[in-house]
Amino acid sequence: MLETLEAQRLERVISAGRTRPLVVECSRSASPINDEDPDASNGPENRVLHVVKGFDLPEITNLGLFNEVFGNLLARELDIDTPAPCLVHLSTPFVEAANNVLRRYGLRLKTGIASGCEYFSGGYSNVIPRSLSDDELKQATLIYGFDMLVQNPDRTVQRPNCAIRSGHFKLFDFETTFSFVLLIGVQKPALGSLQTWLGPEASILCGSVKKKARLELETVHNCSEENQCCHN
Ligand SMILES: Nc1ncnc2c1ncn2[C@@H]1O[C@H](COP(=O)(O)OP(=O)(O)O)[C@@H](O)[C@H]1O
Ligand SMILES: [Mg+2]
Repeated sequence: MLETLEAQRLERVISAGRTRPLVVECSRSASPINDEDPDASNGPENRVLHVVKGFDLPEITNLGLFNEVFGNLLARELDIDTPAPCLVHLSTPFVEAANNVLRRYGLRLKTGIASGCEYFSGGYSNVIPRSLSDDELKQATLIYGFDMLVQNPDRTVQRPNCAIRSGHFKLFDFETTFSFVLLIGVQKPALGSLQTWLGPEASILCGSVKKKARLELETVHNCSEENQCCHN
C-alpha cells in the first residue's frame, strides 16, 4: 500500500537532474508542525526527508509521475533495492511558503499530489566500479534485466541513476520506465533513434553484464566439452 505523506518543509532543491527534484520534510499527519512535542504525530521524530517531484517542476508529466512511483514499486517487487516510494500531498500553505524560495531558482510548485521517495545519504557513490564482485555482478544483472523489461533508457554513463555503497546498489529515478507506452498510437516510430536510445548497449551496466554472460557461456561450453570427453 502506498502511503500519502504531508509535505511540511522544503529542505532544499537538488541541483542535479532534469526535473530539479526537491528534498522535503514530510510527516504522516496533516496537522500543523509541532516542534515542541516529539510524541506528536508530526513532531520532529515523525518527520522524514523525501525526494519529491511534482507539478510544475521542469519536464514533469502525469505519466512521468506514475512511472516514478509504479516503476519503483515494481523494482522492489523484483528484489531490487530502491528508496521506499510514497505519494506526497502538497498543501496550499506548503506550496505558498515553498514558492517564496523556489522563485529564486526559477521554479514553481502547484498544490496537489506529487511523487516521493525516501531520501538517502551517507557514503553513497554514483559511480559504478569498473570491476564488480560476484554479488555486485548479480545485482547489476538484475537491474539490467529490469531496465530491459520496463524499457528504461535512463541508466547511462552520464545519468547512472544508481547509487552504490559497500557493494550494494540502490536504484532511483523511474520516471522514464515503461517508455514503450510512448509508442502506442504512433503511426511511424523513428525506430533508428529509438533503438539507440533504448538499445541494451546504452546502459552503464551493459559491459559488466555482457562480461558475466560471456563467462557463463564459456563455463557452459567448457562443461559440455568436458562431458563430451567423459562420454567418449
Ligand atoms: N532518494 C534519493 N535520495 C538521495 N538523493 C536522491 C534521491 N533520488 C534522487 N537523488 C539525487 O537527485 C538527483 C536527481 O534525481 P533524479 O530522480 O535522478 O531526477 P531526474 O529525473 O531529474 O534525473 C539524482 O542524481 C541524485 O543525486
Ligand atoms: Mg536522474
